[in-house]
Amino acid sequence: MSGRQALYNELAVQLAALLKGESDPIANAANAAALIYHGLPDLNWAGFYFNRGGELVLGPFQGKPACVRIPWGKGVCGMAAASGAAVIVPDVHEFPGHIACDPDSRSELVVPLVRDGEVVGVLDLDSPVPARFDDEDRAGVERLAAILIASPGTA
Ligand code: SME
Repeated sequence: MSGRQALYNELAVQLAALLKGESDPIANAANAAALIYHGLPDLNWAGFYFNRGGELVLGPFQGKPACVRIPWGKGVCGMAAASGAAVIVPDVHEFPGHIACDPDSRSELVVPLVRDGEVVGVLDLDSPVPARFDDEDRAGVERLAAILIASPGTA
């Protein structure tokens, strides 16, 4: 097992423990964002956008203030939401339509939150390091997203 897989395993255990017994969606998403932001190296933003009537609206996060509303299909977040699949952007400057919230962001990973076949939101990670995210990160973050979505309190 790689060191990164071990880290994601550890984060998965910690996230499950943080969510246990709590059903408030804001509290759970806030703790998930904090755990991920402080648990993974080289991030400058980690947080959620939730599906509010077909538009993505900012949820709990760690990092600098961010754009509040993202149209479905727009930017990296909107693309992940519309496709229902994770998106890795190695260089945000090369991604047409990237929505720049923090000029420090150079690469990005967005994982959709899917419940009963419906995209209820996305989990967005930004890094100041180009090409910070790979398939191992995608798999690890998808696992964290699945733990959150399986908990009774998710927006
Ligand atoms: N860059 C994202 C917008 C959200 S911020 O990174 C927090 C995008 O293009 O969807």
